[in-house]
Amino acid sequence: MAHNAERAKILITGRLPDEVLQALKQRFDVEANPHDRPMDREQVLQAIADKEGFISLVGDSIDAELLDHAPGLRMIAQMAVGYDNVDLRAATARGIPVSNTPDVLTDATADLAFALILALSRRIVELDRRVRRGEFTFWAPMLFLGREVTGKTLGILGFGRIGQAVARRAKGFSMRIIYSDPRTIDSAIAQELKAEHVELGYLLREADFVCIHVSLGPETRHLIGQSELALMKPTAYLINAARGPVVDEQALVQALQSGTIAGAGLDVYENEPALEPGLVELENVVLLPHVGSATLETRIKMASLAADNLCAGLEGRVPPNLLNPEVLPHRKS
Ligand code: DGY
Repeated sequence: MAHNAERAKILITGRLPDEVLQALKQRFDVEANPHDRPMDREQVLQAIADKEGFISLVGDSIDAELLDHAPGLRMIAQMAVGYDNVDLRAATARGIPVSNTPDVLTDATADLAFALILALSRRIVELDRRVRRGEFTFWAPMLFLGREVTGKTLGILGFGRIGQAVARRAKGFSMRIIYSDPRTIDSAIAQELKAEHVELGYLLREADFVCIHVSLGPETRHLIGQSELALMKPTAYLINAARGPVVDEQALVQALQSGTIAGAGLDVYENEPALEPGLVELENVVLLPHVGSATLETRIKMASLAADNLCAGLEGRVPPNLLNPEVLPHRKS
């Protein structure tokens, strides 16, 4: 396998912003999916076989089987902050550095989570549908009422970069902010945001809006299931713009159907892109197609950061967002 970083062969499984793609083409021998739809598994397995670098996307399953198809792979640059689709242990065992794209998507994702809070509380999507159906025929004091956001309690599960950015937005709405996170959070940040650390059960009982911002792992899979939903207020909303499997979607549909909670705003799904039966029939949900980071500005930043990480890895430098530093002494070069 040629280890010439200047013309190393790389695979990109989705269409990137053109300026980033062109820059990569200057340095590497690029095979890139030109479409806005994923490559299928067989195509990826074939294409990766002779590659040294890989810009991967959340829909790519990077497991031992794929890595075994790629004997020359020297760098995986995931274009996302989440990397639950990558078997990090398998990559590390093969000496392959893996990176992600943190920070650059924090604001876009927090904006989207807050948009879901507002959309749910003021029934924006449902009422838009009603107006289009011709149901706006008069004004009446008690018609089309939503719930106030200002002054309510926001419960944030996972108080990392994105959770904190949501809290920053909530401050502008004079919300009380409580959070649950097993990690120790910088007390200066918690103080600045007037955010109070609480136990999960307390958060679920108190919050008017429960916003999920944890990463997906064995300890967070189905973090919110039937018994957690049962703790929430019947007037409360659940927002998930993190990873679908954090919520037991079947239990969520039941809770929404039975009025256990008031509504849900989902940007991610347990078996993405498939939806749990019953979900689309509900009026009290807002459903988005995994667009937390989907602004042009942010996607350019994510692609550029993934490209920076890829170049560093292929050129023998330490990628700025390396996830498995234990690989450094053993990495393929
Ligand atoms: C991420 O970055 O993890 C998002 O889910 C994809 O943009």
